[in-house]
Amino acid sequence: MRLLQLGLLVALASGLAAILIYITGVSNLNGSFQISDEDVEALQSLQSNFQKCVSANGLGLQAVTGKDYCQVSMNFPSDTVPKWRDDKTGELEDLSFDFNLCEAVATWEQVRNSTTILTREFIDALPNGWEDYAWQRINKGRFLNHCQNKTLCVEKLSLVLPETPPYFPRQFGRCAVIGNSGDLLKTRFGREIDGYDAVVRENGAPIQNYSEYVGKKSTFRLLNRGSAKALDKVVELDETRQEVLIVKTTIHDIMSKMIRELPIKNPVYLMLGASFGSAAKGTGLKALEFALSICDSVDMYGFTVDPGYKEWTRYFSESRRGHTPLHGRAYYQMMECLGLIRIHSPMRANPDRVVKWVPSHAAMTSARIASEKMLRRVGAGSADPLATCSIIKKQVKRKPLAASTLRKASADHQKFVKGTTMYPLEHSPGHGQLCTVTAS
Ligand SMILES: *[C@@H]1O[C@H](CO)[C@@H](O)[C@H](O)[C@H]1NC(C)=O
Ligand SMILES: *[C@@H]1O[C@H](CO)[C@@H](O)[C@H](O)[C@H]1NC(C)=O
Ligand SMILES: *[C@@H]1O[C@H](CO)[C@@H](O)[C@H](O)[C@H]1NC(C)=O
Ligand SMILES: *[C@@H]1O[C@H](CO)[C@@H](O)[C@H](O)[C@H]1NC(C)=O
Repeated sequence: MRLLQLGLLVALASGLAAILIYITGVSNLNGSFQISDEDVEALQSLQSNFQKCVSANGLGLQAVTGKDYCQVSMNFPSDTVPKWRDDKTGELEDLSFDFNLCEAVATWEQVRNSTTILTREFIDALPNGWEDYAWQRINKGRFLNHCQNKTLCVEKLSLVLPETPPYFPRQFGRCAVIGNSGDLLKTRFGREIDGYDAVVRENGAPIQNYSEYVGKKSTFRLLNRGSAKALDKVVELDETRQEVLIVKTTIHDIMSKMIRELPIKNPVYLMLGASFGSAAKGTGLKALEFALSICDSVDMYGFTVDPGYKEWTRYFSESRRGHTPLHGRAYYQMMECLGLIRIHSPMRANPDRVVKWVPSHAAMTSARIASEKMLRRVGAGSADPLATCSIIKKQVKRKPLAASTLRKASADHQKFVKGTTMYPLEHSPGHGQLCTVTAS
């Protein structure tokens, strides 16, 4: 009986300890949520420049400030004709969309310093990573009883699970993300696109027969579920067979079989994305997210972003349903006016186009710090780059990075974060991250 009580006590105590660790993890010991005058100024200046930027570059879009320093509405001209109907409600798409600028600034700036590729060290470092998470990245993983047989789960993921991240923040200079919009056939962007350091494409986008419009170069390709299952067809789209394939969803047995038996030599990885809520789910935004996590600058081609679209088409196939083009247009314009991306389209085809009123690097930094405080994010206002880490794991085995092989910007960043790798954690309160540091 005594033993039982003792056991209960120990269990309670360790439960409490776990809770305490959890609370300190999200309570931001060294940061502060105190909003200073400078923070208010930073957000006011961000908002007012943002409105000017949208007016100057948005082809008719206007931004209107909402009830606090963070809210904005993006409004289309009243004569815009919405074409898209919601499948469920049958209602036409709105002409006004509310966005939270603070949320966008804080989250997208975090993406720029995170890794968006799933690795073995991430699953190992995640509390109950194998039992609670790994099976979700395996097709039919719910039959694996929470990876009771870990060997089996490791086996299933092994073809797409590098030990440590294969890419680093700012590893590439200028990157282009190419969407699949039919608009691409209106401008010969091919040569311009081939001039980027890395090019990210999506799903089944062909290159052959379209290269004067979409370019030939292809470094990465982001795949949804359907494309991933047709991996054999997808690898044929790039003649060099060196494209890196990044799968948004899960590993399938069909996919593993193709990789092993065909064999497919292209590197294949699973994406580990941040959560942006309902605002950002499509492959296009995931491709931008991936590019922002490894590139200095990101330019976007082939998204339907000009006014007066008639129907939703791909450059290589007929129109299809299930998109929210006006919402997307407004969201991308917000991203451009936060200096995250640059939009290229038939109506914005001049490669030297200057996006007016884009915030400076310093303005974005102040706005980000203020936003983190407004949103009570983990580590808000702290100068310590590791303050956003709610889980820190020391890696003993990991070999230190050979900084000399990285671009200077990337090596500088590694130095700033002291070699830390930061992973986004889904549904983590305050957007705390999982960080792995090299034990010295
Ligand atoms: C807070 O700062 C102290 C000293 O500056 C440091 O030792 C500690 O690790 C920091 N804690 C967190 C959670 O960042
Ligand atoms: C676990 O999976 C491995 C790999 O498939 C298999 O060889 C082994 O027999 C399994 N173990 C149990 C206890 O089922
Ligand atoms: C390119 O065009 C040729 C000739 O019309 C055709 O055989 C080939 O399948 C096309 N390739 C793609 C990827 O559409
Ligand atoms: C990201 O890293 C850069 C240094 O490369 C740093 O200046 C910036 O503050 C970091 N951003 C966040 C959100 O931690």
